[in-house]
Amino acid sequence: MNILRSTCFSLLLGLGSLTVQAQSTTGKQTKFTPGERWYDQNGALINAHGGGLLYQNETYYWFGEKRGQSASEGINVYSSKDLYNWKAEGMALAKSTDPQSEIAVGGLMERPKVIYNPKTKQYVMWFHLELPGQGYKAARAGVAVSDKVTGPYRYVNSFRPNGHMSRDMTLFVDDDGSAYHIYSARENYDLRITKLTDDYLSASQADTLLFSKHQEAPALFKKDGQYYMITSGCTGWAPNQASMHVAQSLFGPWKPVGDPMQGPLADKTFGGQSTYIQPVQGKKDAFIFIADKWNPKDLKDSRYLWLPITFENNQPVVKWVNSWNLNQWNN
Ligand code: DGJ
Repeated sequence: MNILRSTCFSLLLGLGSLTVQAQSTTGKQTKFTPGERWYDQNGALINAHGGGLLYQNETYYWFGEKRGQSASEGINVYSSKDLYNWKAEGMALAKSTDPQSEIAVGGLMERPKVIYNPKTKQYVMWFHLELPGQGYKAARAGVAVSDKVTGPYRYVNSFRPNGHMSRDMTLFVDDDGSAYHIYSARENYDLRITKLTDDYLSASQADTLLFSKHQEAPALFKKDGQYYMITSGCTGWAPNQASMHVAQSLFGPWKPVGDPMQGPLADKTFGGQSTYIQPVQGKKDAFIFIADKWNPKDLKDSRYLWLPITFENNQPVVKWVNSWNLNQWNN
């Protein structure tokens, strides 16, 4: 079905004129509309949930879960020069057709994040892996690599970092090139961090408990030498209240600083759940908070909430806006 967006038709009817607002799948986007359907260059819904971004070669890459109505179908990747308009680059990591594979159909691949290792010249993807037919029992971190940013990625292996369960997760690369895996452990009661090995393929033994507050969906950014982390509570696909913590060191201590969300439904993260925070290239102190508004009845039609992070009294704030663009950082 061809859906037309942002197109106004004036239809002259017998009694006068009627303006119909319809949706178009084509045409250049110049703004973010959080929670609205978001289409790629072909007019297909962007299918990249629990995602993360990577800026490389003057291009943003968006990696995320490809979802069916409920099935986990692999990892998709999209590219963009401007963050508004996204080109589908296909599947970065597909499910294996070998039923013995850890990434065979029937398992889950969630919250993929990709980083680039300049030493090995490899793109390294980490994701939350659940083995086929075991629900959320396996609680493992999966790793895949590629020489090319868009893949296809080669599945390497999966493990529990230093023996700890690993579900929701993110990766963070610090200014010195050290990379870290931040993950929900011990049935999501603990949030932990592990430093990656130099090749980014494994967890080193530098592995610390950050706090035990039953949190998931970690998303991090760094500003003026301070680390900020936004997390969610644990209520499955249902939204809950976000929390923010701040630290001088990734290994802590992490100090709770409340909920940075402001506006309608702020106490439920606007109906969403954190997944990533993307710095905007070329703009100072410009960060985008990225969340998933999950639709458990049709996961592929879960929506994306991209909102600007602003600073009030030097504290990060995420305010709801129906529509916005990057010009807000021009002043
Ligand atoms: C919440 C997690 O953050 C999601 O990634 C997903 O695992 C759902 N739970 C499943 O209920």
